[in-house]
Amino acid sequence: MKELLKIRDLTKGYTDRSILEKLDLTVYENEFICILGPSGCGKSTLLRCIAGFEDYTGSILCNGKPVTAPAPQRMMVFQDYNQLFPWKTVEQNIQYPLKVNGLRDKEKLRQISDEYVHKVGLDGYQRYYPHELSGGMKQRVAIAKALAFKPELILMDEPFAALDAITRNSLQQELADISANENVTVIFITHNIQEALTLGTRVLLMNKQGKIVIDEENTIPKPVKPSSPGYGAMWDRFSRGLAQESN
Ligand SMILES: Nc1ncnc2c1ncn2[C@@H]1O[C@H](COP(=O)(O)OP(=O)(O)OP(=O)(O)O)[C@@H](O)[C@H]1O
Ligand SMILES: [Mg+2]
Repeated sequence: MKELLKIRDLTKGYTDRSILEKLDLTVYENEFICILGPSGCGKSTLLRCIAGFEDYTGSILCNGKPVTAPAPQRMMVFQDYNQLFPWKTVEQNIQYPLKVNGLRDKEKLRQISDEYVHKVGLDGYQRYYPHELSGGMKQRVAIAKALAFKPELILMDEPFAALDAITRNSLQQELADISANENVTVIFITHNIQEALTLGTRVLLMNKQGKIVIDEENTIPKPVKPSSPGYGAMWDRFSRGLAQESN
């Protein structure tokens, strides 16, 4: 397995408060890492450091290069529905990072956006504007945009947290299917253990002090269901860990 992201001694605080202290994490290509942890423990801070939005001490190497600024190769998908350009259509939003990166061939751009529109189940919506879409549909577009670009790393900060339960379940299943069939490496933050077990090839738990206290390979066979062998035991471990770390 090829090392993609190597974090060593990552330390990050705000004013006088330390959030992350000497955190180490290695992510390998094609892993889908889910991070659980109590509110305020520093999950978003960690993701923002990896994205290049924050100053930090210690080292973050992505493909051997130090992370010093945001780059499309580390693409972020947020919880917020309003992460698309409102003046661009669905296909224009998906094509935008590719265009900025130098792809000019209109036919090729159309072919790629059509492919990913299809993968996220939005056939026929290519010419719609974000204000004409539901929240779940906008999140689908944001995911299509990230996948279509084929970045080295996709960073997702609770992208499904604001969705209703049914939409959330179907998006989880779709993302699980897509990620199993594409060469993607993802770091995905969630509060939801079921979501972490459904999506993750590896699941981490952070404690209130911003330390990684559980780091487990997810060996539950895909597609993961609550009735899958190993699901209950793994769910229990993370549920107990989360309860303990939230006190
Ligand atoms: N820009 C900032 N300035 C000062 N403090 C900040 C800033 N951003 C985050 N913090 C603090 O850092 C801590 C960690 O925040 P972070 O957003 O990383 O937590 P989180 O684990 O993502 O929480 P949640 O699960 O609620 O999203 C919090 O105590 C928060 O108040
Ligand atoms: Mg957060």
